[in-house]
Amino acid sequence: MIHTRVIVVKNPEEMGVIAADHFEAMIQTKPACVIGLATGSTPLPLYRELAKREKEGKIDFSRVRSANLDEYKGLAPDHEQSYRKFMQDNLFDHISIKPENTIVPDGLATDVQAMCEAYEAQIEAWGGVDLQLLGIGHDGHIGFNEPDDHFPAMTHEVKLTEMTIDANKRFFDSIDDVPKSAFTMGIGTIMAAKKIVMVVTGADKKEILKKTFWGPVDPQVPASILQFHPNVVLICDEAAYPF
Ligand code: F6R
Repeated sequence: MIHTRVIVVKNPEEMGVIAADHFEAMIQTKPACVIGLATGSTPLPLYRELAKREKEGKIDFSRVRSANLDEYKGLAPDHEQSYRKFMQDNLFDHISIKPENTIVPDGLATDVQAMCEAYEAQIEAWGGVDLQLLGIGHDGHIGFNEPDDHFPAMTHEVKLTEMTIDANKRFFDSIDDVPKSAFTMGIGTIMAAKKIVMVVTGADKKEILKKTFWGPVDPQVPASILQFHPNVVLICDEAAYPF
């Protein structure tokens, strides 16, 4: 563990409140900031808290820009299980962010390379990600960057591992409906964010959390690269905290 600041909270609700403080502070300092967003179960208390704070007049999303980490290959934006739809349902439809200021990789892209390059270019044109939100998979993935023998740099297509397909099958009618590939920001894209907030809750994440921040930096545990980022805040609940 080198730079990471660790905040241990009681439960997922408190995680949502503390993580929202970081987003509120960023948006107050820089109203047109660029935030990197994640899907999954863990950020949900945070997204509820952000929507609540905007309703209370504490945050204004009208100038904020957002870039999501990833999207399933082959799913249309309005597909029930697409990450674009997830973001609409759980955050964007409840805040004042402008649709044209939200980007998610295009699951239907046919020219994959062009789509990935355009995604990187858009983030760069916005001046880079100011605050990136991350969850973590049981195998240490961030975005859809799965364990590998290297750290992939930029937005790219990935084949999902059996573990990730299995973890995500709960959202689909059957395991055969889970897409086998996805598009994800690379580790380099993520590491270029000026600040990163990682949220981790639940006892099932304890083991991987320990490996990530208290083990060697290893592409077989992709999130372990975060030990080399100078501005990471880890917010985990008591159940996930390994000590
Ligand atoms: C989703 C993403 C994934 C999730 C991870 C944890 O956009 O980037 O890396 O953060 O799979 O998912 P949950 O929070 O559902 O345990």
